[in-house]
Amino acid sequence: MKFFLDTANIEDIKKYAAWGVVDGVTTNPTLIAKEGVQLEQRIKEITEIIDGPVSAEVISTTYREMVREGRVYASWGKNIYVKIPITVDGIRAIKTLSDEGVKVNTTLVFSTGQALLAAKAGAKLISPFIGRLDDIGADGMSLIQEMSEMCLRCEYDTEVLVASIRSPRHVIEAAKLKAHIATIPPAVMEKLIKHPLTDSGLEQFLSDWDTLQEELKHTQ
Ligand code: E4P
Repeated sequence: MKFFLDTANIEDIKKYAAWGVVDGVTTNPTLIAKEGVQLEQRIKEITEIIDGPVSAEVISTTYREMVREGRVYASWGKNIYVKIPITVDGIRAIKTLSDEGVKVNTTLVFSTGQALLAAKAGAKLISPFIGRLDDIGADGMSLIQEMSEMCLRCEYDTEVLVASIRSPRHVIEAAKLKAHIATIPPAVMEKLIKHPLTDSGLEQFLSDWDTLQEELKHTQ
């Protein structure tokens, strides 16, 4: 499974890219707004750090404007994926842009029907939002399960990008279900690497090593 970072924060992107485990980055208007910068500037900054897919979301909601915005974003770099919401205008924009060779990431996907339509229209990535489904008492992971069973990649050139991740458990379950990509917020990356037994185990190893060095000094 590929790991994307779900953030527009440059420091976080640099930090986790340095771990060597980041295959791409996803952003959305909320994440860009948190940073207080213009979309174009931030996306270009991200592409200087990340060679893999970088998703930038359209702001408009009409077919014509989404296509116009998508073409502009695509001109910012070869690794730009244009994020388009799965609406009636959105599906038309996905088809038009995909036919032109623009890579599309379909966003705000909450059902397998939406996923299937987006794949059929030519989207390269489909982003089911599992955390937001959990938030309303539904089971986000069952959407991933059903999408895995559909095997979109078998028939279409489409990858499942698990989005709206809230916990390490979501990442593990996504991997078990053979999702192609998980987009992970920085806070969840921290939780993935941390374990108190790792910290206490390391402390003990180092302390025992120091004790040995002291003992050896006195025996020499
Ligand atoms: C990424 O592509 C999505 O926009 C993001 O994962 C949404 O996450 P949220 O539900 O935590 O806002």
